[in-house]
Amino acid sequence: MSAPEPVRIGILGRGTVGGAFLELLTARAGAVEAVTGRRPEVAGVLRRSEGSFEEILGGAEIVVELIGGTDPARDYVLRALRERKHVVTANKQLIAQHGDELFETARDAGVQLRFEAAVAGVIPVIRVIQESLSAAELTRVSGIVNGTTNYILSEMAGTGASYADALSRAQELGYAEADPSDDVGGADAAAKMAILARLAFHAPVRLEDVAFEGIEAIQPDDLAYAKQFGLSLKLLGIAERHESEISVRVFPCFLYRGHPLSPVEGPFNAVMVESPSITEITMSGPGAGGTETAAAVLGDVVSIVAGEAPVHAPRERLEVTRDLDSAFYLHLEVADRPGVLAQVAERLGNNEVSVRSVVQWGMGDDARLVMVMHECAERRFYAALDEIGGLDFLRAEPRAIRVIEEEFV
Ligand SMILES: NC(=O)c1ccc[n+]([C@@H]2O[C@H](COP(=O)([O-])OP(=O)(O)OC[C@H]3O[C@@H](n4cnc5c(N)ncnc54)[C@H](OP(=O)(O)O)[C@@H]3O)[C@@H](O)[C@H]2O)c1
Repeated sequence: MSAPEPVRIGILGRGTVGGAFLELLTARAGAVEAVTGRRPEVAGVLRRSEGSFEEILGGAEIVVELIGGTDPARDYVLRALRERKHVVTANKQLIAQHGDELFETARDAGVQLRFEAAVAGVIPVIRVIQESLSAAELTRVSGIVNGTTNYILSEMAGTGASYADALSRAQELGYAEADPSDDVGGADAAAKMAILARLAFHAPVRLEDVAFEGIEAIQPDDLAYAKQFGLSLKLLGIAERHESEISVRVFPCFLYRGHPLSPVEGPFNAVMVESPSITEITMSGPGAGGTETAAAVLGDVVSIVAGEAPVHAPRERLEVTRDLDSAFYLHLEVADRPGVLAQVAERLGNNEVSVRSVVQWGMGDDARLVMVMHECAERRFYAALDEIGGLDFLRAEPRAIRVIEEEFV
């Protein structure tokens, strides 16, 4: 009996991830053969200065896209799928922005499109949501899906550093890019949450459906005050299903100690998946890095060669809602005089917002009033905030940050 044909892999991009993937593929070729029965071979590598896409397309069975961005990655991936090549990509923007078109093309061609490395690096969240939990009726997926911002927030909380200093440190250590705007502004996490929501709820969630905020306005003293309430700050992505509606959001928010995502510090990622049938599962680990991402890409290649077929067709039409409930932390700099707290409480009460804890610090003629609210309709809280913003004893703009009230004890 003749040996099985090798599996020929074309690699688009040889940068941080592409280079690491090429090394890993060579080093682990024997292991891939042992698992799948077929030895991997490189059919060609494309970069700006090297290789030909047409030649790779002609000679490859699997195309691995590690260029990034949407142009020319989208065109290459569509052409590969139409030529009935399986595709593996680490490109979150491509999947978040063009998922419908790409999945439909893959389905029509009868080939696989895998993208485990696009969200949370080597943590196998896509596989778990898409395959292991495909019948679990997920109600919520929440996560720390951006390591840069988690590093910056951990640094600010741990050392009292300002946002700008913590960002510089992240850049020195290679955790933040020279232009960090997509990370710190929440756009990177939004793309990842669009992908997770699509898979979790079997719905065609688009990037425009995700509301997002970043961490640029966070002040170190908010982190210090909140510590006294047992709170730690994360840039959180939350995708929730409420019957026939879903919401997908990214925002900085406080978590109580005991929340499964609260201990995740530094440039790490973690994703928590909830459903009545599984209660809660949390997966955590390194979210980025060339070697880690390459390992996730190779895992997808192995799955394809081993013949595992994922289901990624969106099946349900769900409405996106932004009318949600949340708890809030509120920081007010006020004149230190009698009646201030009563007036703030009155504005909150008028809008049916109830206070869970409050601490006041005197600072000469001024005072800091730091409060944590119970969960309420967000629009009620913002109406109260508008009223509070007009009070004459305020010394600075009020600062509000969401709080996840559940304590998971
Ligand atoms: N870096 C990470 O830690 C990480 C983590 C998770 C996911 N990802 C994703 O992985 C993908 C690759 O990221 P990366 O960090 O490896 O990027 P990178 O270091 O910038 O490498 C990009 C590669 O693509 C090639 N390329 C760019 N434009 C091209 C074009 N028009 N035609 C042909 N080749 C082109 C570049 O060619 P030259 O070599 O000629 O410049 C380079 O080899 C992205 O989708 C990224 O979001 C990265």
